[in-house]
Amino acid sequence: MTQPNPQEQLIWFRNAAPYINAHRGRCFVVHFSGETMQAETFAGLIHDFTLLQSLGIRLVLVHGARPQIEERIQDQGQQSQYHRGLRITDDQAITAVRQAVGCLRIEMEARLSMSIANTPMSGARLSCISGNFVTARPLGVIDGIDYCHTGEVRRINHEAIRHQLDAGNFVLLSPMGYSPTGEVFNLSAEDVARAAASSLNADKLIFLSDCSELKQGPEQMTPAEAEQLLNNDSDLSDELKRHLKSALAACQQGVDRVHLVDRNRDGALLEELYTRDGSGILITAQTYEQLRQASIEDVGGILDLLSPLEEAGVLVRRSREQLELEIAHFRILDRDGMIIGCVALYPFIDDHAGELACLVIHPEYRGHGYAERLLKNIETTARGLQLRQLFVLTTQTAHWFQERGFVPIDIEKLPVRKRELYNYQRRSMAFAKQL
Ligand SMILES: CC(C)(COP(=O)(O)OP(=O)(O)OC[C@H]1O[C@@H](n2cnc3c(N)ncnc32)[C@H](O)[C@@H]1OP(=O)(O)O)[C@@H](O)C(=O)NCCC(=O)NCCS
Repeated sequence: MTQPNPQEQLIWFRNAAPYINAHRGRCFVVHFSGETMQAETFAGLIHDFTLLQSLGIRLVLVHGARPQIEERIQDQGQQSQYHRGLRITDDQAITAVRQAVGCLRIEMEARLSMSIANTPMSGARLSCISGNFVTARPLGVIDGIDYCHTGEVRRINHEAIRHQLDAGNFVLLSPMGYSPTGEVFNLSAEDVARAAASSLNADKLIFLSDCSELKQGPEQMTPAEAEQLLNNDSDLSDELKRHLKSALAACQQGVDRVHLVDRNRDGALLEELYTRDGSGILITAQTYEQLRQASIEDVGGILDLLSPLEEAGVLVRRSREQLELEIAHFRILDRDGMIIGCVALYPFIDDHAGELACLVIHPEYRGHGYAERLLKNIETTARGLQLRQLFVLTTQTAHWFQERGFVPIDIEKLPVRKRELYNYQRRSMAFAKQL
């Protein structure tokens, strides 16, 4: 493997800074399966958990135990029984569950206690807390089948978990719960993660999943799209189906962002959280907002947005005809059919540069990071076009751009074609950002 050069590492680290700030103090619930714990990449994942913790994320980890329980049941000479994808936990099976989960918990605690010189854990002093945070009730009899000691989550003691997070500890939840009568129940780990995320009001619920089969698809899905995928794609693995189902339930219960991150790729969790393009799939209930390429039907909406600013002299006037001709350069933010923001990118391919223009957010939606989102989108597009520089001409928004990495440049430094059109009366200032 080729090592990235120090300069690239530095750039990567600097680019991660906004995400480090955005995630600090947030609560993330992360689910990983028993299979993940058996994989070679697991040691790296443990390091990543400790790194997230040291970057100020409040972490609740939920582990699965399916293959480990399975192994123990087989060792007892028994066969696992499932109905509707859920284990039927009879008296013998619950013994296997207790043993398997107990061992996994100890293993997790041991791994999180490591602080060995010359490893990413060096110097880490982290406390991992597990306990009776999950109250369960029996699933009972379904389709005439008694699930015995298989249960479902009744309540999560979120105050106690918060208390631990406040103290700077990890919380580790297992796929087990206890009833007020003192019984032990085997739960689905996905369900524990879903319930924990919703009762803690977590900022993110993350499933480390075998989702490489979705890689070619979109990076973001609405719950409706995720549901469609679940219902129409019968080739999905059982694991992915379980994760999608729990993701949907979590969205319905108010968790804003659910991520599916490839459990087979070393570092995928860090990539998802600390890089611009991420690496996984985000399912978000914020369905009504869409950043998309503008089409000819959007011309009216864009004109509504631009006209007041043209009248105020903030933007150069564009006729409807001109806008129609240039519509392919525009991106818009569509919120439930209303255009609340727009931006345009005019590439100057020969100069390896692009002009960002018409960045506008509807006055009622300002101050929520929408413009920033449009800028990032344009930067990604410009990079895709192999442009090396983005420039902008502005009269009143200089500081906004400067705060986002643009520096003043001389008008003479603009591409010749742009310079020829420069309106000296407007006295716009030019700013550029290297990509
Ligand atoms: C500039 C504009 C696009 C920013 O949209 P937005 O969605 O509010 O932007 P963000 O949420 O990403 O950023 C908000 C921050 O930018 C600051 N900001 C807004 N307008 C600014 C300006 N003209 N100069 C400097 N900073 C500005 C806000 O104060 C806020 O900062 P704060 O969080 O520290 O208070 C929007 O104000 C707008 O549409 N303005 C009119 C059109 C315009 O001037 N476009 C640029 C010409 S290309």
